[in-house]
Amino acid sequence: MADLVTRLPKVEMHVHIEGTLEPEMMVTLAARNGITLPHRSVDDLRAAYRFTNLQSFLDLYYQGASVLLTARDFEDLMYAYLRRAAADGVRHSEIFFDPQTHTGRGIGFEVFMAGFAGGQARAQAEFGITSALILCFLRHLPESAAMETFDAAEPFLDRIIAVGLDSSEVGHPPSGYARVFERARQAGLHLVAHAGEEGPPQFVWEALDVLGVDRIDHGVRAEEDMALVTRLVDDGVPLTMCPVSNVRLKVFPRIEDHNLKRLLEFGVRVTVNSDDPAYFGGYVGDNYQAVRSGLGLTPLELVDLARNSVEASFLDPARKKGLVAELAAVPLV
Ligand code: HPA
Ligand code: ZN
Repeated sequence: MADLVTRLPKVEMHVHIEGTLEPEMMVTLAARNGITLPHRSVDDLRAAYRFTNLQSFLDLYYQGASVLLTARDFEDLMYAYLRRAAADGVRHSEIFFDPQTHTGRGIGFEVFMAGFAGGQARAQAEFGITSALILCFLRHLPESAAMETFDAAEPFLDRIIAVGLDSSEVGHPPSGYARVFERARQAGLHLVAHAGEEGPPQFVWEALDVLGVDRIDHGVRAEEDMALVTRLVDDGVPLTMCPVSNVRLKVFPRIEDHNLKRLLEFGVRVTVNSDDPAYFGGYVGDNYQAVRSGLGLTPLELVDLARNSVEASFLDPARKKGLVAELAAVPLV
């Protein structure tokens, strides 16, 4: 029988589609599209994936995305991610994409949105996994650029469930994006933001109070401010945590040092996710296994994490109820 982690029905809510580009696919797409990469082989690429902080990762992540040109490329990428997620027991995934990484290279929404839709439909037909898209604004670029991106996204909003905020956190507070988030809210979208990964607790407060987000992506540094932890607990604000990412980007020295279990015990609605699995070497199942062994989580705590993922998602109440019922029926041994 498959391992408990695989058998638990789960939702993934923090995965960047551009961060699922495996070195093998990067090399294949570079050849297919006539692009020369600084790191030419799969081994060279993997050897370069030794990061010192978020920015050292982002530099390689944006470079890697340069091989994505055609709708077929985006479809292959989406399908490959969803196949792997389904194999880990993920039933639904809410997937970030970074349009500005592509529009900045002259690739329009019509190209990547068509590719994503093709990969999402094929994966749902073959593996039963459903998915939704979260448009992320790059916070190293100004809010005016985010506004232009939202203009370009307008014809596609029926296929986008939420907006988010990612890229270099330090020096780029959430409050700088209040107007574009307000526009997204008025368009009926859900709101999320990366906050408290490398940035201070103040950025988590701003994401909640200025942007009005439904979930915080990462949020590990919230623990430095107990009033903020209390706020997260009282309001049931989910954190989409990514433990393997946090170790690879030196947010914590070792998985044993991660604060996921403490926050769970405080009563925060913690979830487990993969972030950029092709770069950090771990899909969502690996992230559950890492905290299970590194933090000594019990089977019941793993069930709590999976239930949190269902409840924190943007799925409709009937689908949530169905997944929670399935979860309750999973044998724990
Ligand atoms: N943080 C911020 N931006 C990102 C990340 C992350 O972990 N992954 C991809 N873009
Ligand atoms: Zn992220």
